[in-house]
Amino acid sequence: MSSRVFRAPGRVNLIGEFTDYNDGFVMPAAVDFSTTIAATKRLDRMLGMRSANIGQRREFPLDDRTAHSAGDWSDYVRGVAVMLERLGHRLHGADLEIEGDVPMGAGLSSSASLEVATALALIGISGLSLGLKEIAALCQRAENEFAGSRCGIMDQFISCFGKAGRALLLDCRSLDYRLIPIPAGIRLVISNTMVRHQHATGEYNNRRADCEAGVLHFARIIPHVRALRDVTLADLSRYGDGLPDPVYRRCRHVISENARVERAAQALEQSDLDTLGTLMAESHRSLRDDFEVSCPELDLLVDLALAAPGIRGSRMTGGGFGGCTISLVDEDRVDDFVRQVGERYRNASGITPELYVTTAADGAREVFPSA
Ligand code: GLA
Repeated sequence: MSSRVFRAPGRVNLIGEFTDYNDGFVMPAAVDFSTTIAATKRLDRMLGMRSANIGQRREFPLDDRTAHSAGDWSDYVRGVAVMLERLGHRLHGADLEIEGDVPMGAGLSSSASLEVATALALIGISGLSLGLKEIAALCQRAENEFAGSRCGIMDQFISCFGKAGRALLLDCRSLDYRLIPIPAGIRLVISNTMVRHQHATGEYNNRRADCEAGVLHFARIIPHVRALRDVTLADLSRYGDGLPDPVYRRCRHVISENARVERAAQALEQSDLDTLGTLMAESHRSLRDDFEVSCPELDLLVDLALAAPGIRGSRMTGGGFGGCTISLVDEDRVDDFVRQVGERYRNASGITPELYVTTAADGAREVFPSA
C-alpha cells in the first residue's frame, strides 16, 4: 500500500513566555526542524508506530477505551489518536513511520511537532476533515491529558499556522492571530545550552498552579477576571498585597509579559529592532527573577549573546530550566556571532553548545503526494 507523508515543524518563541495558559499573547515562529511521518493504511483497527530516532516500534488497538500513558514517546502519538476517537472521529488503522530532526528536550517543541504531524497523518489517512484550530486544540489536550504536561496552546498552534519569514502574534484566548514579517537581513539564532534540568515538568505545572492561585485572588476582588490576562499592572499594585510572595511575582511576570508582547509586535511591524531588543531583555529578566524558570546556563548564553557581534535582542525561549535561547542577529555578522558565543560558552561552562542559524518556516502540511 502506498504511503502519504506529513510534516510538522517545531517552534521558537520570540517573546510571550508562560502567557499562553493565562489567556494572553505569544509571538512564536515555526522553525526549519520538523517531524515527518509516512503513513500507510492497515486493514485492522490497529495503530502501529516506529520511531527511527529512538529505534523502537509500538502497536496499540484503536478500540482500547482504557488507554493510558506509557510514559514515553509513544504517548504523543497515541494521545492524539485517543483524543480524535474521543471527539467522535473514527480512525482508520495505520502504520506510522516517524522521523524528526527537532532537537529533543531542547525546548523547541519536538513533542508538539510529533503531535501535529500525527494528527495530520491520522486525519488524512482516515479521510476526515478538521480545521487547523481544532487540530491545534486537540493536540494540546493530548499533551495535557495523556502526556501529563499542563501546557498551553502556543506550540501546537504555531506548528499548524507558521509561515515562512514571519512571526505569529497569537491571542491565546480568541485564537485570533496576525502574521508579522521578520525584517530581511535578520536571522534567528537558537543557542542550545545542552542542559535540561530534571524538575522541568513538575516546575512547569507548579508555575501554572501559582498563576491559578493569582486568578482566584483577583477574581474575588475584580468580578470580570477569568485569567491573568484580565489583570493589569495597576490592579496588581492596588490589590496584590494579599498575595504570598512567589504568587505575586509569578503574576507580575505574566501581566508585564503580556504588555511586552503587544509592544514587541508593534515594534516588529515597524522594524524597530532597538525596542524589540529592549523588550526581549526585560522578558528574560522577568523570567529569571519573577517567574524563576531560567538557570545559570541560559543566563550565561544571554549575557554572551548581548556582547556578541550583530546582536539585536536575546532571551531564553520556551519552558526554561535549560533548553535554548533565541537571539535576533544581523545576517552579515552571524558567522562571527556564532563563533564568539560558541567559544565563550564552552570556555565558561565546559559544555559545547549547539547554535542553529534559522529563519521562520512554514507550518504543518502534507508533503507527499503534495496537497
Ligand atoms: C512550553 C509549553 C507552552 C508554553 C511555554 C512557555 O513550551 O508547551 O505551552 O507555556 O512552555 O511559554
